[in-house]
Parts: sequence; structure tokens; C-alpha cells
Amino acid sequence: MKRDILESTAEDADDIGVNLSREPTIADLIEARMSRRTALKGLAAVGVCGLFGCAATAPRTTGSDAPLTFTENGRFLDETHHVAPGYNVQLLIRWGDPLHKSGPPFRPGAQTAAEQEVQFGMDNDFIAFMPLPRGSRNAERGLLCVNHERNTPHLAWPGMTPADYAAKMTREQMEVEMASQGHTVIEIARSSAAWRVVEDSPYNRRINARSTAMRIAGPATGHARMRTSADPAGARIIGTLNNCAGGVTPWGTVLTAEENLQNYFIGNAARGPEAAAWKRYGINGRGRYVWGRHFARFNLDQEPHEPNRFGWVVEIDPYDPKSMPVKRTALGRCKHECATTAVSHDGRVAVYSGDDERMEYVYKFVTRRPYDAGNPAANRDALDDGTLFVAKFEADGKMRWLPLVFGQGPLNAANGFMNQGDVVLEVRRAADLLGATPMDRPEDVEAHPTTGHVYVVLTFNERRKPDQVNAANTRGPNKWGHIIEIVPPLVNGRPDHAATECRWEFFLMGGDPANPEHGARYQGTVTHNGWLVAPDNVAFDPGGRLWISTDGQDDWAGFADSVYAAETSGPRRGITRNFFSAPRGAEICGPEFTPDGRTLFLAIQHPADEKGSTFDKPSTRWPDFKDGVPPRPSVIAVTKADGGEIGS
Ligand code: FEO
Ligand code: CA
Ligand code: CA
Repeated sequence: MKRDILESTAEDADDIGVNLSREPTIADLIEARMSRRTALKGLAAVGVCGLFGCAATAPRTTGSDAPLTFTENGRFLDETHHVAPGYNVQLLIRWGDPLHKSGPPFRPGAQTAAEQEVQFGMDNDFIAFMPLPRGSRNAERGLLCVNHERNTPHLAWPGMTPADYAAKMTREQMEVEMASQGHTVIEIARSSAAWRVVEDSPYNRRINARSTAMRIAGPATGHARMRTSADPAGARIIGTLNNCAGGVTPWGTVLTAEENLQNYFIGNAARGPEAAAWKRYGINGRGRYVWGRHFARFNLDQEPHEPNRFGWVVEIDPYDPKSMPVKRTALGRCKHECATTAVSHDGRVAVYSGDDERMEYVYKFVTRRPYDAGNPAANRDALDDGTLFVAKFEADGKMRWLPLVFGQGPLNAANGFMNQGDVVLEVRRAADLLGATPMDRPEDVEAHPTTGHVYVVLTFNERRKPDQVNAANTRGPNKWGHIIEIVPPLVNGRPDHAATECRWEFFLMGGDPANPEHGARYQGTVTHNGWLVAPDNVAFDPGGRLWISTDGQDDWAGFADSVYAAETSGPRRGITRNFFSAPRGAEICGPEFTPDGRTLFLAIQHPADEKGSTFDKPSTRWPDFKDGVPPRPSVIAVTKADGGEIGS
């Protein structure tokens, strides 16, 4: 979400921290920082500490990654994208492109909801490449599963600005917005060097906020606070919205994460039994989407339980186009950035997620049983049965995963929790009571495919005050973001993602290392073009190297959002290199590789979303560059000109 939009609609902004309940005291902070310093000093005395902590606690690696050899990209802030020399960029699909041959063409500024329901959605975010056939590692043909997070109305409709669109939106325009959010599944295939969308594939499908029915599963199913007049059983919901990042399960389904639910509700948020819960979730009744004017379920006064039906992780089976998506409530309700999975040594599956707001938490869910690799159907409801945890980072390099289980510790009737349904519905308050660590906007959280180390991306938190720093968030303010690396213990040489105690270190502290005010730290020398700000989504290439996309460099550093790559082990570990930059106004999402590492898909979200830029006069018309055609969020495919692996 862009910062200028946040400021223009500060009352209903998406990432304004509402967790004021447990700011550490100055005494807590001094003690924590003293402990950290003492620990480091003590270990330094025996000569085992490096820049990022101590060898005793440093992540273990499995040898050196293959070196990244591409020539670095430069810094830009202009109308188009730029990629490292020797690479090609292909436009794959744009907002408004029909999913079927006979589908309606994109009509700029005049779309109907019926058209949008069979066209690629707006503001693309997470991308998963799911090979065809299911279970294969085919890198030539697969399903591209793409989230659509949001709308930028002043870039979608003529005559609107960020300041007045809420007043001008018609009922029909709101329905188009609903139809454009959610998710798209499209079949894609590569022939020679080019990718194409397989039009009329039976897999091609839109899942949206307007009309797609989904089942509710897990502990909140049927809960009194999940019931509405349209769904008196609390078991079925129309729609998913604000689908930000996501993940893929080992059994071949896609997880899509509902993030900024607070933006969708209008009404009086100060009254009624849900008022305190609304406040904790930033729901103030002045959402930037004013759907509640025409649609009762988005009006707090008319359907006070409707907000409880969003903020979940939704599981989609892209290989079965008739399947009904399922909201997996056991994973908790928050502003889920992502839901990435990792298989533990014993076959149990962990799902990692960040709650993307200032001062919010990092979560993981662990299935009770091992998944069955030979029988995908046996895993159908694996995400309904397990334990949810929240992260607490200690100053001594250890971190704990605290169980969010009804009846354990303070999660009881005395604190208003009557069952596990209450815990997952108000998981933020439950995590407050357990003393979880407030973070600098947790975005992607993703486990390395071979080492199992878990990378936690904190994008930035310019509002953290100096007296609010903690062991894992040491800068107040933090305008640059950082990445933490959690190291699960090994069992029989394999990571234990169910472990409740792990070690952690900083992987990098974003910013310009040449500017002491930033407090940036990398594991070695980054180039003038290689340092980053505002890390958001990450992906690993098949060789285990980390690729990082950003959201906010234009605001905080004055150049376009970019994609960086870094080796995760060996002598160049953590040294970021600049690979790609976006057209102005865009953030970059969804980095995703084909299994052969030869294609990198990127989602270019909200190009031209910057101050003064509108449908009528956008700051760029990327990617069409045609008069009258607005900028269009799109998915691109990056390949190496010689057909080789990206990065090498
Ligand atoms: Fe949707 Fe946290 O980015
Ligand atoms: Ca994001
Ligand atoms: Ca973001």
C-alpha cells in the first residue's frame, strides 16, 4: 500500500498500528538492550562474534550458493521497467485481459462487473506457478495462480482523484471493484522463448469478492460471531478480498492471504459488542472502500459480524476448477500478508504468516499429523487440525513460538475467550496476552528450501519511537526495513518446523550503508546500486538464493521499487544485488520461479500510483503506452537472453 494514499486517507489507512496495548517500558527496553550487549560482549571476549552476532548462534549453512553473476541494474524512477543486461521481459497478462477467447475485451473506464468477473483482476500480488500435470516439475506448462489485492479507483475511473473517489463511486463501480479483487487461475505454456496464456483452458478461473462462494472450516465454523443474516449457520461466505501474498501447500493447493480487512467497512464502530475487537483490528467504520453504502454486509450497523468473516487464509485447489475455496480459520484472523509452508523432519507442515501492520506479530501454524505425500486427498483438511503459535524474540539470540491455545495460560474465560473460535477470531488480542514481539510490519515469511532457515521480512516502521525498540526491531524510526533469519533446530539433519524454540539473527538491515543515519548493515560490501529499502515479498530460486522485491523505495529512497538477489550462504551471503526496477508508482510482488529457474514471474502492482497521478493524467501508461489506456497492473515473465538460469 502506497504511503501517499495512506496519508491522504489517514483515518482508514491500512497499516496504521493499532497495537498500543503492550509497548515495552523504558526499563524493559534498557534491560533487553543491556542483556544483548552483555551477551555479545561476553562472547566477543572469547572471539566468536561477528558483525551479526555470534558464531554460536549464527545460522548454519550447507555450503556456498552458486554465485550470482549478473551485471547489476541501475537506479531509475521513470515510466517503464528496467532489467539487468542480458535479460528479456515479456508481458504475460494485464488487468482486464479476458481469460477466454470469446471473453469481453478491456474497456478502459467503462468496465462492468460481469466483464471484470471473466477478466484478469486488478492490482496483482502473489504468484504461484503450479506445474501441469499436478505433482510434476514441468517448467514449460502450468497454472499461474495470482492474487488481486486491491483497487486504485483514481487510476481505474475517469474524473476521480484519491480525495474524492469515495464520494463519487457508483454502485456499479463498486461491483467492478469487488469482481476485480480475489484471485485468478490461468493455464500458461512456453513455446520456444515465449510464454502464452492458454485461452479457454478449463482451468482458467476467477475467484472474487463479489460472487465466489467459499466454505468456512476450522474452529470459527458456526461460531455465533461468524453468523450473519445471509449465513445464519456461520459456515459459508461469499468472497475473498485484499488477497495479498500467499503460499503453496505440499499437496498442491494454493493459500491466499486476506490482508487489510479494515478498509472494507463503514458504519458506527464505537458501539455494540464487537467495538473493542474492531478497534484492535483498526476497523473504524471509515473504510476506503465504501461498499457499505449499497451493500449491507459491508455496513457495521447492519451486519456487525461480517468483518469476522475476513482476515483469514483461504485454500484453493487450482487443479480442480469446480472446487470451492475454503477459509481455514485455525490459522487465525489478522491482516495476513502470506501463508507459506515448510515440511518438518517428521512430515508435519508449518504455515508461516506475518500480520502486516506496525507493531504486529509473526505466526506459524503446525499441522497435528504428518502430511501424506502419496495421497493428496488425505491432506484435504490438514489445515483444520493443528496448533497456532506466535513469535517472541529474545535478546539472547533465542526465539520462542508461543501456543495460541484456548485454556492455556491467559487464553481463558477471565479474558473473554470461551473457546478456540474466540482465540482465532481475536488472535491479535490473544497474542498480546502472551507477550509476543511487536514487529516492524511483517510481510513475507518464507523458509529456505534446503536449510529450512525462515526469513522474516519486516518492511519498515517509520512510527516506531526510540523508546519502543526491542531485540528484533532495533531502529526507531525504521524507514528502511530489515530481514530476520530464524534457525529451527535440526532433527536427524532436517529442520524441525514444529519446534517451539529456535535461534535467530539479522540477515540484513536495509538502507544505504554510506549514510550513517540509516543504520544499515549487510554481511559485506553492497554496491551503490545494490542496497535496498522496504523489502516485501521474497522467493528462493532452485539454487536456494533469495530474491527480494520491494514496496516503498520511491517514498523512502527516491527511486523505483526493485528486485534484488542475494546468496544465503558462502562468502557473499546477504549481499544484495539489484536485478530489476519497476515503472514509477508501482510496487513489485509475487516473485516466483519456474522449477528450472529459467523464468522469473513478477507482478507489477499499481503502476502510476503516486501523488497527482490519475486515470485522466497518469504518471505512466505502462505497459500499453497508448493515449486513453490507463496504466495496468500486469504479470511479466523475465528470462535470460541465452535461455539459462536466472541470476547465474
Ligand atoms: Fe499487501 Fe503487506 O502488503
Ligand atoms: Ca506485500
Ligand atoms: Ca507491502
